Amino acid sequence: MENLRQLFKDLHEFYFKKEMDKKTKKELSREIGLEVGYLCGNYFLKMNHLHYGYWTDDLPVDITNLHIAQDKYAELIISNIPKSVKTILDVGCGTGQIDKMLIDKGYKVDCLSPSHYLNNQIKNLLGDKSNIFESTYEELQTEKRYDMILFCESFQYIDINKSLTNTYNFLNKNGYMLICDIFKKDVEGKSALSGGHKLSRFHDLISENPFKLIESIDITEQTAPNMDLMNDVVQNVIRPSINAGLKLSNSRHPTAVKVIKWFFRKKIEKLKNKYCNQDRTGEEFKKFKLYQLLLYQKND
Ligand SMILES: C[S@@+](CC[C@H](N)C(=O)[O-])C[C@H]1O[C@@H](n2cnc3c(N)ncnc32)[C@H](O)[C@@H]1O
Repeated sequence: MENLRQLFKDLHEFYFKKEMDKKTKKELSREIGLEVGYLCGNYFLKMNHLHYGYWTDDLPVDITNLHIAQDKYAELIISNIPKSVKTILDVGCGTGQIDKMLIDKGYKVDCLSPSHYLNNQIKNLLGDKSNIFESTYEELQTEKRYDMILFCESFQYIDINKSLTNTYNFLNKNGYMLICDIFKKDVEGKSALSGGHKLSRFHDLISENPFKLIESIDITEQTAPNMDLMNDVVQNVIRPSINAGLKLSNSRHPTAVKVIKWFFRKKIEKLKNKYCNQDRTGEEFKKFKLYQLLLYQKND
């Protein structure tokens, strides 16, 4: 109940606070998307994380296995943490589930996320075992320093320059930065899939910063099936459900439906282009995106 109350509060803020600037609206809309994603995924599919699943050959690609694939992704991250690391800052920590796994393994973990709603879930999950910064990474201010800073599918949302500068400053001597995220490849054509910093820009900027590459693992092949699953859910569940709901509402309140459709016409068109496009497949993902685990060490 508390979850739904917070969600309605956020939706009200998003639609009716006219003075909100475009950037804040975009950030809030992303956070609301994550809240809805978490509520539905957790309730229907037992999902605890907000990242993609990591599909190994032995795991059938099926939506009911998504929570297992997500755990495998978390295990991949944990298995790549250097031995000397004891303290970690998880930037864009989502639901804090990976942080619970890390704390259970003996790491000292602090969490950072701008989402008030998700941070409340984390407080329930971790209690006083973790310090939670409710902030964007760009705005973080702290005297604390860490052995490793983790970006688990959150790097794409943060300005690269700011990420690299802050990470350098918040790391201990010879500390590590672990990024596991999507990047946009430099290929011809336009993709229906959004997300990820441009790979070439990331390479340019990281080469100007004092970080040394320690490990690079391409996991595009193991993450691409998430796109096929999402596409399947959209085409076979979400789309037909919306159409059926619209048909029913239209037959009962045709004028109200027309007014609502007109009021939200731009948003509806945007959502249609973004989610109802048949090109949102694993093949498309492999063509336009690179999903990588990258481990860097700070050069002092
Ligand atoms: C796709 S979720 C990944 C969550 C989590 N790391 C996981 O693996 O399940 C992206 C996360 O990035 C966070 N985020 C978005 N913009 C951010 C920013 N500017 N600074 C810090 N975190 C941000 C979101 O709140 C969310 O927790």
